[in-house]
Amino acid sequence: MADKQFSVLPQHLGIIMDGNGRWAKQRSLVRSEGHKQGSETFRKIGEYAGNLGIRYITFYAFSTENWNRPEAEVNAIMQLFDSFLTEAIDRLDENIEKGIRLHFLGDKSGLSDELQNLMDYVEEQTKNCTKVHLNLAINYGGRQEILQAVKTIAQKVQNGEISVDEISEQMLSDALYTSGQPDPDLIIRPSGELRLSNFLTYQSAYSEFWFSDVLWPDFTEEHLNQALADFEKRHRRFGGI
Ligand code: FPP
Repeated sequence: MADKQFSVLPQHLGIIMDGNGRWAKQRSLVRSEGHKQGSETFRKIGEYAGNLGIRYITFYAFSTENWNRPEAEVNAIMQLFDSFLTEAIDRLDENIEKGIRLHFLGDKSGLSDELQNLMDYVEEQTKNCTKVHLNLAINYGGRQEILQAVKTIAQKVQNGEISVDEISEQMLSDALYTSGQPDPDLIIRPSGELRLSNFLTYQSAYSEFWFSDVLWPDFTEEHLNQALADFEKRHRRFGGI
């Protein structure tokens, strides 16, 4: 598919990959089949968005609340994540050549040692890439992220490294998993749900939102084009006039 030209692109695009379970149900398949198809869509849309020139892309793969799902479903998602990491490592040279930096948002300590090792390895190996920053939010919760940032800063105060008055928005932003990255300009949520679900809670203060009824496994490059065409027309005021 030919890559479309847009006069304004979001610098940072966030995507909530929702609707996998319903996609599977519609086809009388087990929910994990929906996640499998969703992980294919993730690869396709990630590549397309990167080719369009979007520099920061964050996909929401697994929330801190998703542990409440049946064990088999959680295991299936972790297995898909493992496959993605293994593939990223197999194609490390290609990814580095394309300038793709991989980064994970969330509490790694809740994941298996094997996953943590693979995550640390790809992050380290791609840390000098600057063309596309691909973030995957896994075991991520916006409130948990803010809480750990507050604890990091409180520890600095307790150690006497900074005073309370020195705490700034910048300091808080720097203590988030997205440290050094711009805030998301556009957040896409498919599947008809109209909520943020603990995704980039702090960073989304001025994000534009784009919702669609399409289920994530059915999400195509054309849907992304539509979202970007709508984003082009938005008048962002950031509290001004
Ligand atoms: C929400 O849809 C989706 C998830 C909780 C998992 C998303 C995971 C993937 C797309 C695959 C993982 C890919 C990698 C690379 C880790 P839902 O299951 O809540 O859908 P429903 O609302 O229709 O039930």
